[in-house]
Amino acid sequence: MNVDAKTTLVLAGLTALFLALSSSFRASLWGNPEPLPVLPLVDAVFTNTATVRVSAAELIRSGGDTSNLECNTCHEENKPGKLEFDAKEQVVLPAGHPDLVMQHGRKNRNENCYNCHDEANHALLRTRDGHKLKLEESTLLCASCHGPNYRDWEAGIHGRTSGHWNRQIGPISRKGCADCHNPHAPAFPSLKPAPGPHALHARSAETHEAKGGH
Ligand code: HEC
Ligand code: HEC
Ligand code: HEC
Ligand code: HEC
Repeated sequence: MNVDAKTTLVLAGLTALFLALSSSFRASLWGNPEPLPVLPLVDAVFTNTATVRVSAAELIRSGGDTSNLECNTCHEENKPGKLEFDAKEQVVLPAGHPDLVMQHGRKNRNENCYNCHDEANHALLRTRDGHKLKLEESTLLCASCHGPNYRDWEAGIHGRTSGHWNRQIGPISRKGCADCHNPHAPAFPSLKPAPGPHALHARSAETHEAKGGH
């Protein structure tokens, strides 16, 4: 056999070998790699940037149904209502508002409607030092009793600030207290934690779970 014929034979042999290898890879003859699990999308609840509640201010701003906020459709101006108290000196929910949940402070220290609402005009809020505010200005009402939290909020270390980092370029906006706290029962509700990151392989996810991860 001459050299040329030998070379041709070797090259043809190699070509056949590689073709055989490639078709065996395509047919997955050696071991079936585990298919990657389909990653479920994170529940939209966890990516939603809305606050935990809709305040009166937000309801008015967004043009929602404000009929509950129009106090004077049922109450008469300059005709102060009368509150009733039970034996423990806790305010009894008025007949017109049986659905309210009043729980402000650990010992219900702030349940008197007129600590916040104006006695003569129910449609207004009134601070202890006599300033009248609209329902949508409640952050200033909270500020009148919760000075330290309000100063933290003004400094941007309580609540949520959005908008421009550099205020020379544009303004910032802050969520009001009532966007996160229900004025009548202000303890912040507990939230469900968002799921952890996805492990690519089912098996590593199992070991992760076994170690107590999420
Ligand atoms: C759909 C009608 C209705 C609307 C709207 C309404 N109320 Fe009342 N409210 C009532 C009724 C009825 C009572 C019970 C009156 C009674 O017992 O004499 C009441 C009682 C009260 C009382 C107890 C003292 C009182 O006047 O008897 C307060 C405080 C009060 N409401 C605040 C408010 C505020 C603040 C708003 C608006 C944010 C409001 N209400 C909106 C119907 C309404
Ligand atoms: C700590 C202050 C505070 C106290 C105490 C308080 N309120 Fe309010 N109330 C508010 C504020 C602020 C709003 C506006 C709500 C918002 O922005 O979501 C409001 C809203 C309301 C509304 C209309 C919206 C709704 O939740 O139905 C009614 C009715 C009402 N209050 C009645 C009462 C009654 C009756 C009492 C007493 C039993 C009372 N409030 C005690 C601060 C207070
Ligand atoms: C008239 C005074 C007064 C006003 C107005 C007032 N608070 Fe309070 N707040 C209190 C008192 C008193 C406590 C109870 C403190 C304690 O238990 O040690 C309290 C407690 C709280 C707590 C702790 C809740 C808990 O269960 O531990 C939060 C949150 C809160 N207030 C938020 C607000 C918000 C938001 C507003 C405005 C809508 C507001 N407060 C308006 C007097 C007030
Ligand atoms: C973006 C949401 C958000 C806003 C806006 C917000 N808070 Fe809070 N606030 C929280 C959370 C979350 C907690 C912590 C609750 C916990 O630890 O259980 C809290 C806790 C509190 C407490 C409980 C005591 C403390 O210091 O931990 C008070 C009082 C309070 N906030 C008052 C206010 C007042 C007043 C404003 C407005 C000036 C305000 N918050 C605005 C989310 C908010």
